[in-house]
Amino acid sequence: MTALPTVELTVLPYECDAFGDLNHASVIALLERARWEILARGPGMDLYPRNGVAPVVRKVAADYRAAALPGDVLRVETTVLHRGTTSWTVRHVAKRVGDGATIVEADVVLVCVDRAGRPTPVPDEVARYLGPRTPIGHEARRVSVDGVELAVDVRGEGLPVLFVHGFPFDHAVWRHQVAALNRWKRIAPDLRGSGDSTQPESEYTMARYADDLIAVLDAVGARQAIMCGLSMGGYIIFELLRRYADRVSGVVLCGTRPQPDSPEGQRGRDESIALAREQGPMAVAERLLPRLIAARTASEQPDVVQQYMEMARRISAPGMIGALEAMRGRPDSTPDLAGIRVPTLVIVGTEDQVTPVAVAEQMSKAIIGSELAVIPTAGHLAPLEQPLATSRAIADFLDRLR
Ligand code: MLT
Repeated sequence: MTALPTVELTVLPYECDAFGDLNHASVIALLERARWEILARGPGMDLYPRNGVAPVVRKVAADYRAAALPGDVLRVETTVLHRGTTSWTVRHVAKRVGDGATIVEADVVLVCVDRAGRPTPVPDEVARYLGPRTPIGHEARRVSVDGVELAVDVRGEGLPVLFVHGFPFDHAVWRHQVAALNRWKRIAPDLRGSGDSTQPESEYTMARYADDLIAVLDAVGARQAIMCGLSMGGYIIFELLRRYADRVSGVVLCGTRPQPDSPEGQRGRDESIALAREQGPMAVAERLLPRLIAARTASEQPDVVQQYMEMARRISAPGMIGALEAMRGRPDSTPDLAGIRVPTLVIVGTEDQVTPVAVAEQMSKAIIGSELAVIPTAGHLAPLEQPLATSRAIADFLDRLR
């Protein structure tokens, strides 16, 4: 991250609306003014034209925190979050000098274009000003949250997409999507109790998982992300939407349902908890397997079964029991569906026995404007069973958000 100089700007009367406040559209213009001011004080306002290029705003995600009035002086701090070959992302935080109140935080994605308007590599002089290129490669990170270390696979740059795995899996259930969706920043953590994350004895609830994921986003510098959850990952996303809606810019709900466990489902959880205690997590994983994958996957894709077993082997007994208890006690998210206001994609495998197609259709109908992708010849593990079709559905959805 490169910190650019801080500038102070006065809110002008014509930037304010009938109520006197700085209006939301003008905030974007004010932040643009800040970027030109920074150039004027540094390399010069002709930095781009003298290099034969222009900076074009491709996307703005702004979080308006408080009203500002004409005459308020705003201190705008700007950092370059990412720099790629042809694009970069800056974060602006504008605070009122008088009382320190944060007025707006915004992430702005800019593309370098040539005279014909085509994206073009950032020229050397501009690159020096923006700071070093963000490495695209794989970054295995560990994020510490209240004494628990979460393992996070972070890759690429662009709009952040958070991949939340289900049960009893880890981030590897999204391995194909994390590899394929290389135009986005992929953030794939192992939840507490799974994979390479710490496996504490207790403290497993949907709320705790959600808090952990927010800590992960903070650690990787993502103010917002498109949340992409498989099954239990979807239950956690419902919790994120309830408690951290401002951090969610879009949602992909794969093989999940909004309803809580039925009494019968809760009895099944109790049996699994007892089995995990008596015989260990693998006994539970083996019992679940036939419900998780399509018959054709079982017969034709032994590697998927093997990958499932490998993930299950990485979950500890406390991690498994904790997840089962968290799912057993999760609230009903059905009443929340109508209030989801971010772009949403629902994905389901045609042979999903855990969350059948009818459940996905009903959920998609209840989320205004959501899209539904039905993946042929996939069970509950569509991302692993049909990686190409699942990645394509997600990429098409993400492309429409650009
Ligand atoms: C999952 O895949 O996360 C689980 O199957 C969800 C559940 O058991 O409800």
